[in-house]
Amino acid sequence: MKKVYVTFLGCKVNQYESEYIIEKLEKNGYVVSPHPTKADMCILNTCMVTSEASRKSRQILRRLRKLNPDALIIATGCYAHLEQEGLLQIGADLVLGNCEKKDLLTHAERYFREKKKFISVSESNYQVDETVESFLSDRTRAYVKIEDGCNEFCSYCIVPVARGFKIRSKAVETILAEMRTLLENGYKEIVLTGVNLGKYGAENGFSLSKLLSVLIDELSGDFRIRLSSINVQDVTDELIDLVGYTDRICPHLHIPLQSGSDAVLKRMNRKYTVEDAYRLFAKLRELNSDFSISTDIIVGFPGETIGDFKQTLELVGKVLFSKVHIFKYSTRPGTAASKLGYQIPADEKERRSKELSLIAEESSKRYREQSVGKLRKVLVEQNRSGISSGYDEYYIRHEFTGGRVGNLETVVSKYANGAGVVSTLACLERQMAREA
Ligand code: 5AD
Ligand code: SF4
Repeated sequence: MKKVYVTFLGCKVNQYESEYIIEKLEKNGYVVSPHPTKADMCILNTCMVTSEASRKSRQILRRLRKLNPDALIIATGCYAHLEQEGLLQIGADLVLGNCEKKDLLTHAERYFREKKKFISVSESNYQVDETVESFLSDRTRAYVKIEDGCNEFCSYCIVPVARGFKIRSKAVETILAEMRTLLENGYKEIVLTGVNLGKYGAENGFSLSKLLSVLIDELSGDFRIRLSSINVQDVTDELIDLVGYTDRICPHLHIPLQSGSDAVLKRMNRKYTVEDAYRLFAKLRELNSDFSISTDIIVGFPGETIGDFKQTLELVGKVLFSKVHIFKYSTRPGTAASKLGYQIPADEKERRSKELSLIAEESSKRYREQSVGKLRKVLVEQNRSGISSGYDEYYIRHEFTGGRVGNLETVVSKYANGAGVVSTLACLERQMAREA
């Protein structure tokens, strides 16, 4: 029996596709090896969203080759679209694009037959119809990729080069069947993911909120749905109403803002203003004053002045974000932003990133403090020496005593710690109250 080692970098879509590759190989007689040295085939599912992601992809590829000189090493994923020859040179035997993930085994078998390195990378325009039944990388939370491709043309972003400029959405029936299987397999949280999730169904007059309505009507049981990342312009009133109407959908949205300056947003070719974002946040928090909003911010975009940056600091200081992911602008080859003047020096990007992270941490802590004394439902991911941990519906990490892995446990938040909250199981809290 052949052994395969699979590792990945990047987003939830890449994580999902790695699991898809694993499942397909397992169905064809492969077994997963937890370590690359024992494998006949090592697969690296790469990312290239920033130069750091590309660097890590190269580093892991070199390491795999060193650790296992005799294995078939396959580099696939987004970076494979950009650096085809380059990846062959640093250790890959096969370089496969995102489309080729679907027939990875056919390509691997060809390699085993011919023992000749090759590249197969085609334009990403395949139909999104792959499904996954379980996740090795996350035993409690499942992911369902419902869409691929992006047509937003953000000036800094290279992703559509690898993912395609056309929105392609998975059929509703396929999503329903996939989710039913995942629920039967015991998953209690399903995260819907896509390269541009908010545009789900846009190519055929459908929408994310319409899909969610169907999922809520058709699926039952003790589970919740989370949305992975959605742009300001795609959080429609219909979607907000739906999130307000059902507790099946987590009251948490990851809305990547990228900047608090309209001038920068315009040069980024983002399709909203800071005012639009404030208006949206007000609606969400009117619905639920604890509504969790997390975001991505890019610091040091070309031409970002100190004034622009201050506006970002102000925004992050004002909105109580549950979490802010900070990215230092990274020039990506061929993007519109790479041709802009006034690139910000690396040390200044570093300085801005540190300054923003202080405010972001403060914002997140204040957000978490709001939950103190309130009931939350935590999906327990692990239990080490009696201490359970996992995320609640607001995507806040909890630590508490007791609780079973894979269960949705009701807890009471006690106080904010490091990056999360310390809480108590609600049933224990009631018992203690009775005994007191
Ligand atoms: N430089 C820095 N960050 C980037 N992102 C995307 N492209 C770049 C880039 N060129 C960040 C954005 C996006 C997140 C997934 O990656 O903030 O939301
Ligand atoms: Fe990385 Fe973007 Fe590709 Fe995801 S879609 S793997 S974040 S480059």
